[in-house]
Amino acid sequence: MIELKNIDVQFKTKSKEIYAVQDVSIQINKGDIFGIVGYSGAGKSTLVRTINLLQRPTNGSVRVSGKQLLDLSPEKLRQERKKIGMIFQHFNLMNARTVSGNVHYALRSSPLSDKQKNEKVAELLELVGLADKHDVYPSQLSGGQKQRVGIARSLANDPEVLLCDEATSALDPKTTLSILELLKDLNEKLNLTIVIITHEMEVIKEVCNKVAVMEEGSVVEQGDVVSIFTDPQNPLTQEFINTATHIDQALEKLAKHPSLLNLNREDTIARLSFVGESTNEPLISSLYSKFAVSTNILYGNIEILHDTPIGNLIVVLNGTTSQQQQAIHFLESQSVTVQQLEHIHIDEKAKVVPLNRKQVI
Ligand SMILES: Nc1ncnc2c1ncn2[C@@H]1O[C@H](COP(=O)(O)OP(=O)(O)O)[C@@H](O)[C@H]1O
Ligand SMILES: [Mg+2]
Repeated sequence: MIELKNIDVQFKTKSKEIYAVQDVSIQINKGDIFGIVGYSGAGKSTLVRTINLLQRPTNGSVRVSGKQLLDLSPEKLRQERKKIGMIFQHFNLMNARTVSGNVHYALRSSPLSDKQKNEKVAELLELVGLADKHDVYPSQLSGGQKQRVGIARSLANDPEVLLCDEATSALDPKTTLSILELLKDLNEKLNLTIVIITHEMEVIKEVCNKVAVMEEGSVVEQGDVVSIFTDPQNPLTQEFINTATHIDQALEKLAKHPSLLNLNREDTIARLSFVGESTNEPLISSLYSKFAVSTNILYGNIEILHDTPIGNLIVVLNGTTSQQQQAIHFLESQSVTVQQLEHIHIDEKAKVVPLNRKQVI
């Protein structure tokens, strides 16, 4: 559906050259809700703007629905761009036009008759839940309602792809969820392919099936959301996920937990992550029956991602070193990811960090 290959985008300013995007390749399939996550300045907007060539790449190829966009004539490119809708953080509505006027405007070069355009606008407003706001001006709408207008407008020409650049970043958490629900709905109802840019992994967790993590112009990790959430490889991905799953907060609190302050030398602190079925197995009790290793659960959380439960436990394992090792091997053989942690003091502050990595996870 969308294939970006070896994309570079370089900006030349008077004083320096900026490599905003460096050798990025991603493939987005029809029906995907593909998330691109990264901190501000990572190159997300620049990358996504290459999908409709609002930003021409310095190098690389952009293929959308089988067409190599860089080879198209300006007129053909205009036609292809109509199949790609876009919404923005600050909505970009025209304040002098009503809600319906804003959506109408997107149909200005459509071949539909006036009557058909009116029907189309009414249909779109219904679809985004704003049927009663037809004649209202944007200044009278809440942020969430404004974004709904933005969505209705972006769908006016029946696009196959919707690009969302920080579309929920100006909204409160509850409104964010309602907009994400709407996007998920549109994805299902219209088989709309959606690309979501965000700096919040929570947004990815909520709706995306695929994710790419960007840092300094490059994609440092990508894959399906369930695998990335259960077994993130890159430290930046781990950081985003720990924030989204509240593990970082838990570790901070646990650093002061009495059971960690009174550990035996042989005890192991570990984070256990698991997907789906392994949550049903009474794994923890079998560690005791099989290996005489007792498990003290300090923290637990289960997230449901696309109907797949993903669990995270922070535990202390107690037993002899060899019993514990056997227990860890057993857990791994049951598809549990085991990350050993240690309790250390940095700058007189107690922290729980990955073993042998003097860095907070
Ligand atoms: N038109 C431009 N001219 C010069 N530099 C730009 C331009 N657009 C973006 N940049 C720079 O490219 C980098 C990536 O920006 P951007 O794609 O907006 O990141 P993000 O969307 O992840 O915050 C930043 O360093 C930004 O300052
Ligand atoms: Mg941006």
